[in-house]
Amino acid sequence: PFQCDLSGLWRNELDSLMEIDKVNDAGEFSGKYLTAVTATSNCIRSSPLKGAQHDTTQRSQPTFGFTVNWEKFSNSTTVFVGQCFISDKGKETLKTMWLLREEVGSPGDGWRATRVGTNVFTRKRNLEP
Ligand code: BTN
Repeated sequence: PFQCDLSGLWRNELDSLMEIDKVNDAGEFSGKYLTAVTATSNCIRSSPLKGAQHDTTQRSQPTFGFTVNWEKFSNSTTVFVGQCFISDKGKETLKTMWLLREEVGSPGDGWRATRVGTNVFTRKRNLEP
């Protein structure tokens, strides 16, 4: 029942890190995201995230979504949606897709404002460097 609870420390294939606090009874959670890459030329800062996960007592491989506000170094916003999967050996994997919206000056520039991609996260042991 505790598996695929999003709480804890996660790393994706880009080496980005996220730490998610305890998921509350409504499935809501918050945390911090430290991206390893940026589309800006600014210095990367840890950024707040907020999301919601389906009830892990009802299902073992729940879907979830969260938003990262890169407010400290970028005007952009990213949303992730995904699902947590558990292997036969009990290893948890978060399979996600994301949309990154960049701020542009006018609606006419909207055509180039959104990037899309996938990220796979695995659980990282706490306090590892
Ligand atoms: C920006 O460059 O404007 C903010 C940082 C965006 C980082 C993106 S979000 C999707 C992808 N997955 C990551 O871990 N980092 C990049």
